Amino acid sequence: MDNRPIGVFDSGFGGLTIAKELMNQLTNEKIVYFGDTARIPYGSKSKETIIKYSAQIIRFLQTKDVKAIVIACGTASALALEAVREQFDLPIIGVVEPAAMSAVEETRNNRIGIIGTDGTIASKSYEQVIYKQTTDIEVFSTACPLFVPLVEEGWLEDEVTIEVAKRYLSVLQDREIDTLILGCTHYPLLAKVIGQIMGDVTLINPANETAAVLQKLLDTSKLKHEIQVPTHEFYVSDCANKFETFAKIILGKEKLPVQQIHIENY
Ligand code: DGL
Repeated sequence: MDNRPIGVFDSGFGGLTIAKELMNQLTNEKIVYFGDTARIPYGSKSKETIIKYSAQIIRFLQTKDVKAIVIACGTASALALEAVREQFDLPIIGVVEPAAMSAVEETRNNRIGIIGTDGTIASKSYEQVIYKQTTDIEVFSTACPLFVPLVEEGWLEDEVTIEVAKRYLSVLQDREIDTLILGCTHYPLLAKVIGQIMGDVTLINPANETAAVLQKLLDTSKLKHEIQVPTHEFYVSDCANKFETFAKIILGKEKLPVQQIHIENY
């Protein structure tokens, strides 16, 4: 039994899609969430920068005495997971492997689509995990860089969002994929629009599998928290009020205190 919290981070709101599922599946665990709202978007930045940002955030989360880290960001998982695992002596999991494994299990016709940020798609991280399992699968990927600002703007079902999504997804529509990985944690918030455009395609939200991987890790490392009604904590690097308003909606909470910190100090 280990009563310390789990650290979860993203560039902004997107990681809340993961945090929400962690709260649902691991009800005893306390979460300390960090959204890097001052430095979003991560998707257009270099690997070096994303490693530096991720390391700063992990150092901040360590001041909250976390027992494990969930990188609830597709881009940081794709570009920084390996580097921070070498740098820090605590369990760290990302969202790429759980989502890729789940897509491999889900596909029936062995044709998988992947959408994500520029950085994630260029890294080919999802492909690497998929091809480690089997080379019988065809993968088609495309970056959707405007999705993140649209989500951060709260335009989840807006006409503009539908138009943008149609344009991005058109390159996947004639590929006969039956499974589509939402390779950025902001994208599950656009699942309705994406689902309507893609039709009969299974959308893979990394949240469910990531929570299952964390559960397993806590079980095997004997890090589980047995009894507790957790009070989660939320931190951002900018615009705490805006984050609070949106986070309350995503998590369905009435109260949700958010504190701003200086991430560059870590
Ligand atoms: N949620 C991040 C991801 O999963 C957001 C990307 C960004 O900040 O550009 O990639």
